Amino acid sequence: MIALDRVGPNGTVVAVDPRPIAPAEGLRVVRGRVGDPALRERLGSFPFDVVLSDMSPSISGAYATDHARSVDLVRSALALAVRVLAPRGAFVAKVFAGDLIDELVLEVRPHFAEVVRTKPPASRAPSSELYVVARRFRPDAPRPERPVPAEAARPDSDI
Ligand SMILES: C[S@@+](CC[C@H](N)C(=O)[O-])C[C@H]1O[C@@H](n2cnc3c(N)ncnc32)[C@H](O)[C@@H]1O
Repeated sequence: MIALDRVGPNGTVVAVDPRPIAPAEGLRVVRGRVGDPALRERLGSFPFDVVLSDMSPSISGAYATDHARSVDLVRSALALAVRVLAPRGAFVAKVFAGDLIDELVLEVRPHFAEVVRTKPPASRAPSSELYVVARRFRPDAPRPERPVPAEAARPDSDI
């Protein structure tokens, strides 16, 4: 809803999820999974100005596993973002905090002029999630190879 407000009446938001998403004016829903190589063609016309990922993995209860799956989802979102973002576009992704974050940020960094990690006030304090915010996309950086990771493509999620 916030994304719809931000793009205004002339903008479009494309929402991707294997689960149903409630329809809304200005929202195009694509039932699918980030990580599926066929997804890009289903997104409609691009480039996009912003790619946002609020994806969460299916929660196993084992924190290290959930953290690794969350990082893998961000990698899949990044692989898609670098293929559909407009020059100087932005990428924002939620991720569960943990020891793989430094490596993840290093992977995001070559593609953007500015990359920060942040925990905004709207994110619940006890929650382990944080956000990687990357601005000013550089389309000339080499793209990451991203085959479909089995965990990222899981259709289920507990959140
Ligand atoms: C925290 S929920 C957020 C849902 C939505 N942003 C909202 O606010 O209602 C996480 C979502 O990530 C989705 N998800 C998990 N893996 C995915 C993938 N590979 N591609 C797309 N969505 C995925 C789940 O189906 C789930 O709906």
